[in-house]
Amino acid sequence: MTTPTNTTPKFTVEIEEATAPIYDKVKTVIPDFEWPAIAPYVAEINRLKKEKNAVILAHNYMTPDIFHTVADYVGDSLGLARMATETDADVIIQCGVHFMAETSKLLNPSKTVIVPDMEAGCSLASSITAADVRALREAHPGVPIVTYVNTSAEVKAECDICCTSGNAVEIIESLESDTVLCIPDQYLANWISKQTSKKILTWAGSCEVHERFTGEELRKYREQYKGDITIIAHPECPPDVIEEADFCGSTAGMINYAKDKRPKRILMVTECSMSDNVAAEVHDVEFIRPCNLCPHMKRITLPKILESLRTLGPEVTVDPEVADRARLAVEAMLAVDEERERRIKDKAETKTTQRVA
Ligand code: 13P
Ligand code: SF4
Repeated sequence: MTTPTNTTPKFTVEIEEATAPIYDKVKTVIPDFEWPAIAPYVAEINRLKKEKNAVILAHNYMTPDIFHTVADYVGDSLGLARMATETDADVIIQCGVHFMAETSKLLNPSKTVIVPDMEAGCSLASSITAADVRALREAHPGVPIVTYVNTSAEVKAECDICCTSGNAVEIIESLESDTVLCIPDQYLANWISKQTSKKILTWAGSCEVHERFTGEELRKYREQYKGDITIIAHPECPPDVIEEADFCGSTAGMINYAKDKRPKRILMVTECSMSDNVAAEVHDVEFIRPCNLCPHMKRITLPKILESLRTLGPEVTVDPEVADRARLAVEAMLAVDEERERRIKDKAETKTTQRVA
């Protein structure tokens, strides 16, 4: 059975009952008067996912109504790329921005990959073109080029390997060269350069969301709470912000930090929805929320996800010749990452064996 498009699902007693356990998960971040407008979409999306053998991969910046109610997998860019290699669904609905959907498509050329809004871009991805990378290659012969995953497939196709904020240092360290070009985020490159002896060259790109935070703003929060506040930041932030933070890591790293350390009060220096998503699960931490929204991520909404499932569009496609080259860069990253995971697992197993013996 297919559902006709352009119909708005209605809130019924059946839907209220069926979605009650889902509402329970988000009741601290979504007021009850809003649920009747949300629940019909949640119920219909979850029904259509089964009907179409679709999976929803959602980035940590999705709003709680998406993150906690319809997503099958949630994570940072690295986690989502890994999940894209594991799913056996026929259709991937990428709730995130275009480059994330492209990465899923590169890893799953035969699957239908959909991004609910084709305009969901990224200021980093649009800061550099394939021609720019070719010019950099010419200007720095023999220097390996690492691209942040926040780039187009055309740019990835010109680079040697990808990285994300979750594995950037390991990727740089895995390369033999003493000099590495790390594009396009100047702030991520600066953060990496503090953790490696390699010379890091970069590009003048930045994230329009994270570049708005300032060290001054964070110092004011510390004053306001008399130092009783934990500040954690994303590596796309400017250097003075990272210096002021107690921890810096990918979105998944930040979430794990909040869940594991459970500070009394935390300020997550990143896109606003992250705090809402963690606050829905962690009730003993006070979240201070300076709100910087990513306008691209916020293009993804429940009605657009429903429309995507009904129409199986808009589909993300990549020119096969570009895809073949871009895939090599993504796969090279995943190979380094797998090796790192294997080493961590072996180390943990050795420790357990030592304890048992
Ligand atoms: P993560 O890989 O840390 O989730 O970051 C992606 C992103 O776009 C942050 O702005
Ligand atoms: Fe791009 Fe910044 Fe939005 Fe992340 S938060 S998708 S880096 S614009």
